[in-house]
Amino acid sequence: MASETLREARKYEEMTQVQITQEERPAFHLSPRVGWMNDPNGFSYYQGMYHMFYQYHPYSSYWGPMHWGHAVSRDLLHWEYLPAALAPDMPYDKDGCFSGSAVTLPDGSQMLLYTGVLHEPQPDGSFREAQTQCIAIGDGRDYEKLPGNPVLTENDLPEGGSRYDFRDPKVWTMQDGRYYCVAGNCTADKDGQILLYSSADGLHWQYENILAKNNGRFGRMWECPDFFELDGKWVLLTSPQDMLPRGFEYHNGNGTLCLVGTYDREHHAFVEEADQAIDYGIDFYAPQTVLAPDGRRIMIGWMQNWDTCNMRSQPKKWFGQMSLPRELSIRDGRLYQWPIRELEQLRCNKAEYRGVKVADGIVRLEGVAGRQVDLELEIRPAGLEETDRAPGAESLAEAGRADRQAGTDMYRKFAVRFAQDTEHHTAVSFRPHESILKIDRKFSGSRRAIIHQRRSLVSHDRGRLRLRIILDRFSAEIFVGDGEQVLTATIDTPLGAEGISFYADGEVVLDVVKYDLQ
Ligand code: FRU
Repeated sequence: MASETLREARKYEEMTQVQITQEERPAFHLSPRVGWMNDPNGFSYYQGMYHMFYQYHPYSSYWGPMHWGHAVSRDLLHWEYLPAALAPDMPYDKDGCFSGSAVTLPDGSQMLLYTGVLHEPQPDGSFREAQTQCIAIGDGRDYEKLPGNPVLTENDLPEGGSRYDFRDPKVWTMQDGRYYCVAGNCTADKDGQILLYSSADGLHWQYENILAKNNGRFGRMWECPDFFELDGKWVLLTSPQDMLPRGFEYHNGNGTLCLVGTYDREHHAFVEEADQAIDYGIDFYAPQTVLAPDGRRIMIGWMQNWDTCNMRSQPKKWFGQMSLPRELSIRDGRLYQWPIRELEQLRCNKAEYRGVKVADGIVRLEGVAGRQVDLELEIRPAGLEETDRAPGAESLAEAGRADRQAGTDMYRKFAVRFAQDTEHHTAVSFRPHESILKIDRKFSGSRRAIIHQRRSLVSHDRGRLRLRIILDRFSAEIFVGDGEQVLTATIDTPLGAEGISFYADGEVVLDVVKYDLQ
């Protein structure tokens, strides 16, 4: 039986959702049914559907006591809302049902493993959030919290692990028939670590070990871990708080981290081999993955940034959206992301141009415009013929030499502008001499002095670069090359700003393939 708190939330979201029209939302990115959304939760495939739950405050467009919103989809692009799944209504979670995950139990029911939050008053009048892990079991719509909750408490922490930062369990099953979960944690001095637990039945859990330790390298507390095997490697995703930038990595404060390595199952030892940011744009956090029935590992993140999410240019009926679902792969020890192939089914109104010359000025192309767009670009310097390609010749000196031999002049800058009218645009620009790709939403309609630009170091073949840009009304996701990097940013631009234009300082030759996404 749903509690009073959950019934209220369900009644409220049903009554108020009509106040938000389809046009005010992204078309194929999931947004909250009403109110506020943050992290993806319980991303799973259950009874023939993808399920996405999310951190949810239905009663305002700001973060508040966390519920779990719920939506289902067959293709991860068309979503149907279901009633809110969890409300903070028990003594152990009355201050919030924080992030967690989902798994199917042998009897066919679906188990949600989430963090229960309880405010503990401190002697100085402040409070701290005590966090435990709790279970709710249901049928894909209604969930009952386990009488035995919480199932993981401070008693299940390693020595020194903080019970105030112990959250976001991500559960999966392994070939040995056991259930495993990773949870975010930190030491008393806020150094992040990922804890590993196991269970024979999914209900009774035991502590295994510390799977990964920050040791002061990447920010402080590590939130929202995910751990899975991919292309012969093991991948640990986490979202560290309070990161310091390192070169062109980790510029987001609360950022994202991907550790690629190997995993010794017997000793539960994860050996790190490489690290990278997951997203190189502005708005991406707390991603979670699902293993699709066809074996694809698909990731969705919260398409927002904690530092700027409350700096609004105008009041919002809803706030927060999920990123595009992205197919993951590992190549040469690096995480690659690509828009799920289902997106291609939304493509229509193709416009294709090959070999367009853009020389010291701006070019617009008939039929290339819109705010729900899939735009593929190949940019190359004029004069660089197919046969001149020299993969790997990426250093500036080498590129310069190669240019002179090939008789090409390297352009200084290329930019594509979109969501453009006379007042607005967002730009993605590329300077081959610096190997810098930049997203700039300064003119996107923001009235706040928030971060509007992010620069990323990209690899290219002597000025030849491929980009795939996905626009969905209030966001842009830029996939670089084969998906070795992605830059994600939200934009608050009036929908009438639909223009797309191309600019070059120097001479660029451009291939453009554009589809509308309907
Ligand atoms: C990450 C996070 C999680 C927590 C949730 C609360 O964005 O802080 O660690 O479970 O959001 O809404």
